[in-house]
Amino acid sequence: MTRTPIHSRCTIEVHLDADDLARALRQDALDGLTAAAKHLPPKWFYDERGSELFDQITRLEEYYPTRCETEILRREAEAIAERTRATTLLELGSGTSTKTKLLLDALAVAGTLQRIVPFDVCEPVLRAAGPELAKRYPRARVDAVVGDFDRHLGRLPMEGTTLVAFLGGTIGNFGPAGRVKLLGELADQLAPGDWLLLGTDLVKAPERLVRAYDDAAGVTAEFNRNVLHVLNRELDGNLIPERFAHVARWDADEQWIEMHLRSEERQTARLEALDLDLTFGEGELLHTEISAKFTRHRIEGELAAAGLELDRLLTDAAGDFALSLARKP
Ligand code: SAH
Ligand code: AVI
Repeated sequence: MTRTPIHSRCTIEVHLDADDLARALRQDALDGLTAAAKHLPPKWFYDERGSELFDQITRLEEYYPTRCETEILRREAEAIAERTRATTLLELGSGTSTKTKLLLDALAVAGTLQRIVPFDVCEPVLRAAGPELAKRYPRARVDAVVGDFDRHLGRLPMEGTTLVAFLGGTIGNFGPAGRVKLLGELADQLAPGDWLLLGTDLVKAPERLVRAYDDAAGVTAEFNRNVLHVLNRELDGNLIPERFAHVARWDADEQWIEMHLRSEERQTARLEALDLDLTFGEGELLHTEISAKFTRHRIEGELAAAGLELDRLLTDAAGDFALSLARKP
């Protein structure tokens, strides 16, 4: 796989070109939309517009995770930099890397930062964020990677002492089996002495959780419906997003928020590229995302199961969100 320069100190390596993405979306749409209970993986939210909508979500009053994680990073970035003395900061699901700058600033001040590796499924967001990071950190090299957690973790470019940052609670967008696979594959890539900084949202009152995923301004609803725009554009579809309501609900047994799109009426649609006719019954749900919430016990257990040792678990003052620093022994 070749790295293409996009700035004097920034390259991009694309594991998912337009053809791969098209193939993967076709398969997921075919599997998910012909299943008895319709479903789509959340990765398809994140085209350029979806990434912008997520960015808006992070600024909503109701969506506390970004503020909480920022609070922890402001307080702890220096200590994390001193503890890890990482030379490479590799960020999974990096998006705009906004919060990550707190960590990168601390590593730069500690004098250890040499390389930044933002990894994301959304190429446009990396093409914007990569050169911006290169300008901000003149002593570091930026090697952006466009890839999918589900397929490309075995190809992470590791070098030096690596701190993998997996922020925002994105690990919670995987179910238990998916998390075991992801953390296991990631741990396999780390060398002894490398680090993982894992952001996880914590279990709390269901009303607050639901509000965070069903905001008054309807931004999360738009983000959820964006997957229908992606299907229409990429698979030559004629779904009418306005005919689907946004649903966010708390599953107390599973301890996760579920997002769905609910068909407001009986309706049909066609995805021309798949030669697929779809029927949605009135009230039928299309499942689009889970966002699991954690306890300290569960975080520690899942890290240990992947062979990672919890070094410290940090929370914001209100105890809403956790950042766990773990080490590969
Ligand atoms: N880390 C940022 C962004 C979180 S949003 C924050 O904490 O605010 C989730 C990010 O993960 C998005 O940028 C999205 O494009 C990326 N993402 C989602 N599914 C992915 C997948 N399967 N593989 C790689 N990146 C993915
Ligand atoms: C990216 N991820 C952690 C977000 C979350 O909170 O699960 C995605 C999101 N979905 C709706 N709002 C935000």
